[in-house]
Amino acid sequence: MFSWLKKKKKDTSWINDTTKKNLNFDDNDAKELLQDIKQEFGLDYEKQEYITLRKIERFAIKNNLCNFIELKNALRNSAELKIKLINMLTVGETYFYREIGHLKILAEYMKEKRVQNILCAPSSSGEEVYSILIFLKEINNDNIRITGIDLNSDAISVAQKGCYRERSLTPLPPKLRNKYFTKTENKYCIDVLFKQNTYFLHQNIFDDSFLKLGKFEVIFCRNMLIYFNETQKKKALANIYTLLPVGGLLFVGHADISFVPKGFIKKIATNGSYYIKK
Ligand SMILES: C[S@@+](CC[C@H](N)C(=O)[O-])C[C@H]1O[C@@H](n2cnc3c(N)ncnc32)[C@H](O)[C@@H]1O
Repeated sequence: MFSWLKKKKKDTSWINDTTKKNLNFDDNDAKELLQDIKQEFGLDYEKQEYITLRKIERFAIKNNLCNFIELKNALRNSAELKIKLINMLTVGETYFYREIGHLKILAEYMKEKRVQNILCAPSSSGEEVYSILIFLKEINNDNIRITGIDLNSDAISVAQKGCYRERSLTPLPPKLRNKYFTKTENKYCIDVLFKQNTYFLHQNIFDDSFLKLGKFEVIFCRNMLIYFNETQKKKALANIYTLLPVGGLLFVGHADISFVPKGFIKKIATNGSYYIKK
């Protein structure tokens, strides 16, 4: 951790004076909390510990809690508070037609193999799921069912609604935006026809219930593993392995892993790399 970052004075101007007097956030009290988050959700904040603790501290104060011990106790008693904390920590960037090379590889693969069920784990707010459906529809394939799962319940609600700000649609060719979205006051909403082919679920990839989602011929697991340490990356990939049939296809984000997952063969194509289950 950079020393200048550690020494930076906390901005407390937004907290009222009475509350300020009672605050006592000692980072040593938060070690167990960070450990619990890592254990249960895979999220490893070791490299951004200081900044993450400031976010958690702000969250605690907003919920009228004065130190990390109070927060830990409150989380033990309230599943709702825990979901709110995880939602706050896992706001991830996503947008339409991200790493589009993978979609081209998928289209090629589908010329040879029958694909009916795809999983996006994680789907975040749904941009990836709808991108795949749009891309395939453009090549006359609208017979695919896509399941999207994510740990962030707010992101799942957005995915279910399918309405987005202009910024996340930027990479999408204007022709497709006009064809498949309806503009409301300040959002673009996806054609309801696509929604019929989707199923979004609030789900932790490390929970046993994840293993019961069924089988998927193709899994997209992009831009999440980057938040995990090596052990958790391997555990998440082992869970994904169980949901794929032999010959099934796996896509990960370009910065997600630096090893070939156990039980997979790596393939490199002009449009990017991917993995096939052995
Ligand atoms: C940057 S987004 C990636 C979204 C999309 N796949 C993409 O590539 O644009 C990362 C997502 O991973 C989700 N996530 C983090 N840990 C998770 C876990 N243990 N189980 C399921 N989702 C998780 C976060 O909530 C976040 O929405």
